[in-house]
Amino acid sequence: MRLNQKTAIVTGAGSGMGQAEAIGFAKEGAQVVVADVNLATAEATRDAIVAAGGEAIALAVDVTQLADLQNLVDVTLATYGRIDVLVNNAGIFDYYTNSLDTSEELWDKIFAINVKAMFQLSNLVLPHMQAQQGGAIINICSIAGLVANMGGAAYTASKHAVAGYTKHLAAVYGKDGIKINAICPGTIRTAMTAEMLKTRPTDKIPLDRFGEVGEVVDLAVFLASDEARFMNGALVPIDGGFTIV
Ligand SMILES: NC(=O)c1ccc[n+]([C@@H]2O[C@H](COP(=O)([O-])OP(=O)(O)OC[C@H]3O[C@@H](n4cnc5c(N)ncnc54)[C@H](O)[C@@H]3O)[C@@H](O)[C@H]2O)c1
Repeated sequence: MRLNQKTAIVTGAGSGMGQAEAIGFAKEGAQVVVADVNLATAEATRDAIVAAGGEAIALAVDVTQLADLQNLVDVTLATYGRIDVLVNNAGIFDYYTNSLDTSEELWDKIFAINVKAMFQLSNLVLPHMQAQQGGAIINICSIAGLVANMGGAAYTASKHAVAGYTKHLAAVYGKDGIKINAICPGTIRTAMTAEMLKTRPTDKIPLDRFGEVGEVVDLAVFLASDEARFMNGALVPIDGGFTIV
């Protein structure tokens, strides 16, 4: 198993890609801390992992609340003794709201969840990874962090911030044996996109289809594993070729 003995935290793991990553990591032998603002869905993810013979705990974590993030780290260390992998996955979308239509409230909410939470949780986890001289941080970015037409003003700006923050972390903490990379998914079928995808064509995607969560999980497992030992600071598109045409 590729993540044997590793402890992984996944935020936003009650749904979509985060849920699939939590389940996929556990299948590869990781002990998974399933964190979501919605405790019932986090517990459902944990139950699916345990039913399949894996190891997981579920926690209610609002990533915008520093006390919740501190508790997440404290409980993880108390339960498993270490943190090998952090997936900063929790995120929300602005459904293509242009700048003039973006309220200050929407802007602040998108940045609080998509960007500030990632900074605060990474800062809580990094000292433990430094002490261990190893670890992997995977930030869930988006192709909206690479191009301008896959989100509204706040979402596009937030994911470009994720891309920049990932590069910063990789440049500064790589020397501590910590590899920090970002996954940039194209359009993937999840609760976030289900409604939009009913009417959206696929003809601008060279592979002519949307992505499935399992395809992102395969990349996340690789980046979390020792196989990715020379990957650092990469922003990896997984988009069927959307961003190259
Ligand atoms: N689905 C896509 O096509 C797509 C494409 C590119 C990037 N992404 C990114 O992938 C990540 C996951 O998206 P998804 O499509 O799986 O979405 P999703 O809506 O299915 O799941 C998001 C999860 O995050 C949780 N969450 C929301 N706010 C939270 C908070 N304050 N604290 C803790 N948890 C919170 C939700 O409860 C939910 O379980 C996001 O960062 C998103 O921006 C998605």
